[in-house]
Amino acid sequence: MTGTLYAISDLHIGYPENREIVAGLRPETGDDWLIVAGDVAETPADIEWALGTLSDRYAKVIWAPGNHELWTTAHDPVTLRGVARYEHLVGICRDLKVSTPEDPYPVWNGQDGPVAVAPLFVLYDYSFLPAGTSTKDEGLDYAHGTGIVCSDEFVLHPDPHPSREAWCHARVEQTERRLAGLGLPTVLVNHFPLVREPTSVLRYPEFAMWCGTERTADWHTRFQAAAVVYGHLHIPRTTWYDGVRFEEVSLGYPREWRLRDEGPAQPRAILPGSPG
Ligand SMILES: [Fe+2]
Ligand SMILES: [Fe+2]
Repeated sequence: MTGTLYAISDLHIGYPENREIVAGLRPETGDDWLIVAGDVAETPADIEWALGTLSDRYAKVIWAPGNHELWTTAHDPVTLRGVARYEHLVGICRDLKVSTPEDPYPVWNGQDGPVAVAPLFVLYDYSFLPAGTSTKDEGLDYAHGTGIVCSDEFVLHPDPHPSREAWCHARVEQTERRLAGLGLPTVLVNHFPLVREPTSVLRYPEFAMWCGTERTADWHTRFQAAAVVYGHLHIPRTTWYDGVRFEEVSLGYPREWRLRDEGPAQPRAILPGSPG
C-alpha cells in the first residue's frame, strides 16, 4: 500500500460553502484513507450524503461521531434520540461501508503500519471544569452566568442513559476494554480531545466542559498512539503531549475559515507521519 491516511473533521455541511468543499474533496491516490472525526452535519440525510460522497472516492472512510450528529432538532424528520440516534447513524455508515466505533478497527498496513485506526465515541462528562469551580453544577452555573452554554444542553439527549456524563462513562469503560485487547499501535480518533490541554486556547474557557473527559488523559500513552486525531474545537493545529502527535483537523464554519490566510483546511496527512 502506497497511500496516505488523511483526516478532517467538523465538515458542518449544513453550510452550502462547506458542502461545496466536501463535494470537491478527492484522494491523491487510489490507496488513500480518510478519517472523518465528527460534526459532519446535524441530519442523517446530510451525514449520509457526505459520507457516501467520500466513501465513493477514498479506499476507506473512518467515522467517529461528533456532538452535532447526535442533535435531535425540530426540523429533522428523524426524531430518534441518544443511543437510538447513534445506532441509526452506525447503520447508515455500515450500508456505505464506512467504519464506525462499533466495527472492527481497520488496520493501516501502509508506510508506518501496521497501526489500528480506532474511531472512538467517548463524549464528555463536564470534568474539564472552569477555574475556581469544583463540581459540574458550579461549572454550569458559572457558564450560564457568562452566557457560554453549549447547545448540546438542549438538543443532545442521552436516552436511555440518565445523563450525558453517564453515557460518557459507559462509553469510556467499553472502549477502554476494547483498546486494551488490541496489541497493536493505534491512531486514536475522537471528536473531542482526549487530553485537556488543547482546550487552554479556547476563547471562552468555560466551553471546555463540553470538550472531553479526564478519564481519557493517559490513553495516548497507554494505547500506543502513533497519533491522536480530534476536532470539535475548530482550532486546526498540531501539538505534542508525552511525545505523541495530536492533530486537530477541523474545517469549521465558513465564518471561521474565511478569516484564515490559508483558507479552508484540507485533509491532513496522519500516516506516514513524522516521529516527533
Ligand atoms: Fe464542530
Ligand atoms: Fe463538535
